Amino acid sequence: MHTATAERIIRPARNIFGSLRLPGDKSISHRYGMLAAFAEGTSRFTNFSTGADCASTLACMQALGATVRKLDNGTVEVTGVGGSVTPSNQPLDCGNSGSTMRMISGLLAPQQGSFTLVGDASLSRRPMERIRKPLEAMGARLTLTDGHAPIHIAGGPLQPIDYTTPVPSAQVKTCVLLAGLQTAGETTVRESVRTRDHSELALRAFSARLTRTVNSVSITGPQALHAIDAAVPGDISSAAFFLCAAALFPGSSLILDSLGLNPTRATLLDVLTALGAHISVLNLEDKNSELVGTVQVSSPPEGLRSTTVSGALAAQLIDELPVLAAIAPYTSGGIRIRDAKELRVKESDRIALVARNLRAMGAEVEEFEDGLDVPGGQTLHGATIDSGGDHRIAMAFSVAALRAEGDTLIQGADSAAISFPEFFDLLDLVAER
Ligand code: S3P
Repeated sequence: MHTATAERIIRPARNIFGSLRLPGDKSISHRYGMLAAFAEGTSRFTNFSTGADCASTLACMQALGATVRKLDNGTVEVTGVGGSVTPSNQPLDCGNSGSTMRMISGLLAPQQGSFTLVGDASLSRRPMERIRKPLEAMGARLTLTDGHAPIHIAGGPLQPIDYTTPVPSAQVKTCVLLAGLQTAGETTVRESVRTRDHSELALRAFSARLTRTVNSVSITGPQALHAIDAAVPGDISSAAFFLCAAALFPGSSLILDSLGLNPTRATLLDVLTALGAHISVLNLEDKNSELVGTVQVSSPPEGLRSTTVSGALAAQLIDELPVLAAIAPYTSGGIRIRDAKELRVKESDRIALVARNLRAMGAEVEEFEDGLDVPGGQTLHGATIDSGGDHRIAMAFSVAALRAEGDTLIQGADSAAISFPEFFDLLDLVAER
């Protein structure tokens, strides 16, 4: 049973050892939940994400007429609205979840009725112009509040679009595809860096037809979606905290099974390999076009080396960069991160918070507009960490704390529940003290 407490003390560990199966991927769960709620028929999902973000998606879809039930065995059962939602007279609460807000906007813009989307303080600071632009180009009527939520949508039929995303964003791509799904004619999204492609794979699993090239995806609407039964692969962005923790301890060994290994998400495995960690991947399987496998990680006796993450790599690793930066002081040559300006507009300004918390632990770090330089060969001490209410900051510094001298206090530790409520319990299971 996991408990959510606002503060957690993390004691240093001697080693990381064990075997875990992680809850379902957040990105895939959002998409399966949203598409199932929009489709015809009843879908059933095992290993659905336990995070609060995906609960926000399900709650919004319930408010729009879908039925969601959690069965005793943990299966999430969703009966869809068959392509037309019931407008809700209450605002739809997206909580902390940018994915919910941006993707649902695309789903709702072509629907009949008016909709209001709201979020918590963090989500209400995040940029929403990026979805207003393409949706307005399709003819949608969207009102933002100074570029942010609350978002008001006056829904109605749209025109197709050929859109090139200015910032790499799977959420924006998905928003346009979900509007295109319901719009007569061919809608195309082009991107310079290939972002996670769970929407493309999920749409096909729900029986939509779409065409893809190396840097574009096109969908011809309108099309109906049909219910599926699926197992959600374990979340590799949650696994990142454990993979990085294991990489810190020579002699560690950690096995993660049923882990999602979609190539647009698995870049961390390459980066850890470049740092010198030993990674093996076993039992690869295809589940609804998502790759799933077992990953074993162990650390070399000589410790981790150094690496640079920039360009396309930065976009593909965007959710894993906080934990990579947090373990960087323990490498021999440090980690350099660039082209990651998007980190500043996530659940918090992750560049500023990583730099501040590394310094609180006594580390040297240089902050740039689009990244960080974290020198290696440093010794860190326990400190009080301000997570800023950001789940990935809370978990990243819990990992850094494992190799620090003395205890670390994580403030806002309960934010881990946004994506990974089980995090602290599982960390206690594999951290040897
Ligand atoms: C996500 C896409 C990424 C990522 C977020 C989840 C998704 O955001 O940071 O945690 O599920 O599509 P952007 O699409 O804004 O880059």
